[in-house]
Amino acid sequence: TETELRARITAAKEKLGERVVVLGHFYQRDEVVEHADFVGDSFQLANAALTRPDAEAIVFCGVHFMAETADILSRQDQAVILPNLAAGCSMADMADIDSVEQAWAQLEELFGTEPDAEGRVPVIPVTYMNSSAALKGFCGEHGGIVCTSSNAATVLEWAFERGQRVLFFPDQHLGRNTAKAMGVPLEQMPMWSPRKPLGGNDAATLRDSRVILWHGFCSVHKRFSVAQIEKARAEYPGVRVIVHPECPMEVVDAADEYGSTDYIRKAIAAATEPTVFAIGTEVNLVNRLAAEYPQHTVFCLDPVICPCSTMYRIHPGYLAWVLEGLVEGEVRNRIEVPAGVASTARVALERMLAARP
Ligand code: 13P
Ligand code: SF4
Repeated sequence: TETELRARITAAKEKLGERVVVLGHFYQRDEVVEHADFVGDSFQLANAALTRPDAEAIVFCGVHFMAETADILSRQDQAVILPNLAAGCSMADMADIDSVEQAWAQLEELFGTEPDAEGRVPVIPVTYMNSSAALKGFCGEHGGIVCTSSNAATVLEWAFERGQRVLFFPDQHLGRNTAKAMGVPLEQMPMWSPRKPLGGNDAATLRDSRVILWHGFCSVHKRFSVAQIEKARAEYPGVRVIVHPECPMEVVDAADEYGSTDYIRKAIAAATEPTVFAIGTEVNLVNRLAAEYPQHTVFCLDPVICPCSTMYRIHPGYLAWVLEGLVEGEVRNRIEVPAGVASTARVALERMLAARP
C-alpha cells in the first residue's frame, strides 16, 4: 500500500543518510516528490547533481536522459540510479545519432567547414537536454552546446555568435518558439525530416536559414491547443495563461507567457493577488501547484488528464526497491554513460553551464 511504501522509502533513506541524494523532476507524482532532496526543472537538476559530490549514489526520479546527464556531470565513482529503466522520453527518441550524423554530413557537403569573415562556422549543432548522451557528445565534438527550456534563448545567442546557422534538435517547438521570440523569421527556420535528401529542403532555403529544426516534438505538450486557451479565456475573464515552450507555436502565441517548469512555478508563487492560472504543461505539476497555492485557481488547459507517461513510470515501489538495494550494498538500475561519449557530452554540457545570462 501507499503507506507501506512511504514507510519503506523513509526507512531506507534514514539508514543511508548522506550516502544518497534523491533528485525529483517537477513532473514526478506527489508520492515520489515527497521523498526528493531536490525538486526542480531539468536545468536545476543538472546543477543539483553537482552539489553533492560526497554522496555515493544519486537516485534520479525523472527520465533516462536526465539520469545520463547527472552521470556525465557527477564524480565518476558516484552511481546514478534510475528507479525504472523504462522511464525514457519519446521526444528524445525522435533524434537518433545515426540520423543526426547523416544530416550533418549533408550540411557539411553543402556548406563546407570554413568559417566566414566574422569567424562563424557554417553550422552549430544545438541539442535540447531531452536527448541521448550520444547526441550531447555529437554537439561537444562539433563545436555545439546543450540547452534546456530555461536557457534556450541564451544558448541560441551563444550559438549565433559562433555559427551562421544552427541545427536544433530534437524539439522543433522549443527551437521555433525561442528563435521566433529572438526575431528570427519563420521562413529562416526550415524543418529537417530525416531520410529525405537535404531534410526535404532545397539548397537555397538551407543557405538562407538561421535555425534548421529537427522534426521532434513532445507528445504531452503537443496536445495543447488554441481552442483550449480560448475556452479558458471565455470562462475566466482575466485568466493568466502560461504554457511550456514545448507547446506548438500557435499555442505559445495565444498564451500570455511561456517558460520552463520552474518559470511556471515561480510565476504562480509570485502572484500577490488571487489569480486564475490556466497552465499548459504536464498535469502532475499543475495539480501540485493548485494544491500548494490555494489562494489561486490553477488548472491544466487540457481537460483530458495528460501525465507524461514515462515520467509516471517512476512508481514509489521502484524508488523503495533501489534505495533498499543501496542499504544492502547493491546498486540497482545504474545508468552509466560510456567514458568516450561522456567526455564529449560533458564539453557540450559545460558550455551550457558556462553560458548563463
Ligand atoms: P523543464 O526543463 O522545463 O523541466 O522541462 C523538461 C521536460 O521534459 C519538459 O517536457
Ligand atoms: Fe519527454 Fe514530453 Fe515527457 Fe518531457 S513531458 S519527458 S519531453 S515526453
